[in-house]
Amino acid sequence: MATTPHRNQRRPRRRVGWPTVEWSRRQVLAAAATTAAGLALGACTSRPDRRARVVGPSAGVVGQAEARRRRPGAPVRQVALTAAPASVDLAGRTVTTWAYNDTVPGPLVRLRAGEVLRARLDNRLGEPTTIHWHGVALRNDMDGAPGMNRPPVAPGGRFAYEFTVPDPGTYWFHPHVGLQLDRGLYGPLLVDDPAEPGRYDHEQVVVLDDWTDGIGPTPEQLQAWLAAQGGMMGQGGMGMMGQSGQDASPVLGGTGGQIDYPLYLLNGRPPADPPTIHARPGERLRLRVVNAAAETAFRLALGGHRLTVTHSDGLPVAPVTVDALVVGMGERYDAVITLADGVFPLVAVAEGKRGQALGVVRTAAGAPPAAAVRPGELDGRLLTLEELRADPRVALPARPPDRTHRVVLLGGMRDARWTINGRTFDDAIPLDVREGERVRLLLANQSMMFHPVHLHGHSFQVQTQPGGGVGPRKDTVIVRPMEQFAVDLEAANPGQWMLHCHNLYHQQAGMMTTLSYVSWRQAGRRSAHRLGP
Ligand code: C2O
Ligand code: CU
Repeated sequence: MATTPHRNQRRPRRRVGWPTVEWSRRQVLAAAATTAAGLALGACTSRPDRRARVVGPSAGVVGQAEARRRRPGAPVRQVALTAAPASVDLAGRTVTTWAYNDTVPGPLVRLRAGEVLRARLDNRLGEPTTIHWHGVALRNDMDGAPGMNRPPVAPGGRFAYEFTVPDPGTYWFHPHVGLQLDRGLYGPLLVDDPAEPGRYDHEQVVVLDDWTDGIGPTPEQLQAWLAAQGGMMGQGGMGMMGQSGQDASPVLGGTGGQIDYPLYLLNGRPPADPPTIHARPGERLRLRVVNAAAETAFRLALGGHRLTVTHSDGLPVAPVTVDALVVGMGERYDAVITLADGVFPLVAVAEGKRGQALGVVRTAAGAPPAAAVRPGELDGRLLTLEELRADPRVALPARPPDRTHRVVLLGGMRDARWTINGRTFDDAIPLDVREGERVRLLLANQSMMFHPVHLHGHSFQVQTQPGGGVGPRKDTVIVRPMEQFAVDLEAANPGQWMLHCHNLYHQQAGMMTTLSYVSWRQAGRRSAHRLGP
């Protein structure tokens, strides 16, 4: 059986695994009312149709999509990742955490576009886990989203993820269970483009993280503390272990977050023990920056240099040269830099918080920078979303949307719930799409905090102009308080896909829904949203 049949509004509703749980017509109407009251965006959100069937992870079309991506004879790259308790050294202090293969970040996984990744996961944690391959347009049943496409890997268990990696770019991987990401479980995934000109001499992956494990409260304690706050707005936006403040970050439109972490790491190292990149003056350095933090956006700059941004979330953009850029949780940026002669701080300030991560770029002898160094570039020209343009190779062809869904981001007021369209994930109404459609998501932040919104299995094109069609391709995008804009995508990867805030604590507090492919019971039916009950 390829798909899960609908019977009277049978839709996936709770994270109780597959198949689906029934929900009532009354809930549909209540949800529609909530959405309409919450927002006055022009287009209409389609309502679930009872003739539709959910295209589940084991649907035939999922295998067909994979078959279209797979070249005969494509090389298979094998990696083995063990998730287990580990000790890491933080500037001479040994702390215990959970990590892949005993290192933080986890091992670099690297292959070429079109190759097949076969990644064996051994779970030596005391709880279930998965690996989610963030940003990769992979087959739905390998996406590591528990309850949505496959049960998690049990403690002591093992699973081999296997999928074609279709597109080049800077990606990363992490678990999609509980608060595991706020420990040391994350690693970079690079997919090389065989056709890339490679106009650089050095390449450096820069993975940023906010760190508490073994030093401050546990992630579980942080979560409990956030829940006890009953919403940050009532508390004036206090940070745990510090005061983040509502006006801490104009670029994020308000507070940088609710948690001031005790440490911020660059490639697993704190500022007291920064990693060093060695190169020669005049050489070109490509940085591949990944924000693996749970709750922190970073403002990145290299002292004495400007950054030419070439890729957002792994996909090429028309190059833009800036002094600094802000990277939200889950986002990636690639930048190329022509290096001067000297010793330069690579600083990633915890945006709107206190503290920073540090690296050193060295092309000459000289004293290393101080841990608290603040190069002036941090306050120079900042990259904006509006100035990014997708490279023609990856820009979506202009096409009006076949379907529009509102995605209203709310929360942080009376309680600790964070919601999409007024609902937490356990109660969420999936956003239906059909394979082949052009889908528009209207992202509308009606809360007082920024949210990096991430869609699994796809990248969308940000519509930064009213006419549309000109923004960057991305899979994660920051939506600032009271901001709204559209992102468009091709529904070309059937299955059930998570759409959520990449603030781990918001996601855990409910800010997640499903982009749900559906098909028709009767062939020949056309427009989904015109077939209301
Ligand atoms: Cu980094 Cu649901 O993802
Ligand atoms: Cu959020």
